[in-house]
Amino acid sequence: MDENLRKYDFNIDGSFVVITGGTSGIGRETAVKLSRAGAYVLITGRDRQRLDEAKQDIDMRSGNPVRTLPLDLSSFESIYSFSEKLVDVHGTPDVLINNAGIYTRGYKKSVEGFEMTMAVNYLGPFYLTRLLLPHMMDIDGEARIINVTSDSYHAVKFNPDIFTNKRESGFCAYSKSKRALMYFNFILAGQLRDTNITVNCVHPGHSATGIWPSDPWYWRLAGKMISITADPPAYAADNIVYAASSEELTGVTGRYIKDMAISRVRKRAFNDGDGKKLWNNTIELLNKRRHSGIPV
Ligand SMILES: NC(=O)c1ccc[n+]([C@@H]2O[C@H](COP(=O)([O-])OP(=O)(O)OC[C@H]3O[C@@H](n4cnc5c(N)ncnc54)[C@H](OP(=O)(O)O)[C@@H]3O)[C@@H](O)[C@H]2O)c1
Repeated sequence: MDENLRKYDFNIDGSFVVITGGTSGIGRETAVKLSRAGAYVLITGRDRQRLDEAKQDIDMRSGNPVRTLPLDLSSFESIYSFSEKLVDVHGTPDVLINNAGIYTRGYKKSVEGFEMTMAVNYLGPFYLTRLLLPHMMDIDGEARIINVTSDSYHAVKFNPDIFTNKRESGFCAYSKSKRALMYFNFILAGQLRDTNITVNCVHPGHSATGIWPSDPWYWRLAGKMISITADPPAYAADNIVYAASSEELTGVTGRYIKDMAISRVRKRAFNDGDGKKLWNNTIELLNKRRHSGIPV
């Protein structure tokens, strides 16, 4: 067990863990650690070749073969077919780690026409979790949902009407998407309080991974600066491993975890009115899709 994790008792042996975005960065390192600790891990990614390459590396380093399944979180269709295949072929996860995330430079739209950062970092995990929830409620024992967020969640002003497709900077979109994911996290935790499912969000720490753009020159420079002060992805992964498997978090729900501990959120960044509005807007949006053939 790694230095950081030694102080804790873990229980993940034999659990089925799904990690979205396990092909690189923090997700891949989380897969290595959980797999090494005896979990059955399934990683996702958009590209078959990248999945195969990641699998080879994780299997070699953990000594425990991981499974792979393609998933594109920017597409409702992909999320739906992923969730069906997951449950039919591999079973229901005991732990779902919504780790995949992007930071985009410039404005891009998803296939369904949503701003890309919001689609991948918030809408996708919201929809995927909703599809898997009924199955996770049926398992024996505790199930955990972990949402990987970022400390930058409070950096910009938040408006719960987030599906306006307004053009804004990459940082603005990223920060808002992470705040939206945290609203989702806290509201869902409240709704599931008397069930077998706990829901917590994690700031993994700053890490020099592929998430940061490499163009133009000032991003390359920023990347170099980040890599001087940042933690290695394996170190950042410890926070997710802790949230997913530590015994001391049994029954703990609706919390924000960073630096291997339960941490406070900036209260001023959240209010019930915005949370409710965001939740209702998202459900309304998914319901509209139901009419165009997307099950909700
Ligand atoms: N690195 C940091 O400093 C930092 C700080 C705070 C929070 N975080 C959070 O940590 C998480 C992991 O980030 P990372 O730094 O490890 O980034 P990364 O190395 O870029 O990994 C991102 C993962 O997300 C997957 N992904 C990207 N777009 C996707 C899509 N449309 N559908 C499904 N999967 C997609 C990628 O897989 P494919 O490209 O193979 O599809 C990849 O496996 C993110 O949520 C990020 O916001 C990172």
